[in-house]
Amino acid sequence: MLEGALLLAALATGDPQAGEAIYPRCAACHALAYDRVGPRHCGVIGRRAGSVAGFEYSPAMKRSKLTWTRENLERFLADPVGTVPGTTMTYAGVPDAKERVDLVAFLANAKCK
Ligand code: HEC
Repeated sequence: MLEGALLLAALATGDPQAGEAIYPRCAACHALAYDRVGPRHCGVIGRRAGSVAGFEYSPAMKRSKLTWTRENLERFLADPVGTVPGTTMTYAGVPDAKERVDLVAFLANAKCK
């Protein structure tokens, strides 16, 4: 019983260390603390989509009116182009649900330096 509850908790909140191991896929275009091809990721949880000052987003991202809650981020990562049609993040996404949760757990802890 307890084990089951712990497993559920781990699934719901994700494993930041496992997420860190997945992050190199994103680091092809992103960094935590500065903008690259994609905008910086530090502080992304709770941020409005398309709101990093000085980064040139697509009109689609700016218009999306999304806030990057964990849920929205997981949805976007499952299917970037399907979630924000017209986004310039031309990346197939992360098909594995556990990997998405782990990645979001890592991003939730990402510091800006
Ligand atoms: C091929 C390059 C590329 C890869 C790989 C990539 N991204 Fe992106 N990402 C972008 C670009 C470009 C944008 C800006 C999209 C826009 O303006 O439509 C973006 C935007 C985002 C945003 C929106 C940020 C904001 O400030 O609104 C998030 C979140 C994001 N990416 C997460 C990820 C994660 C997590 C991964 C790894 C699984 C990843 N990206 C992989 C290029 C990439």
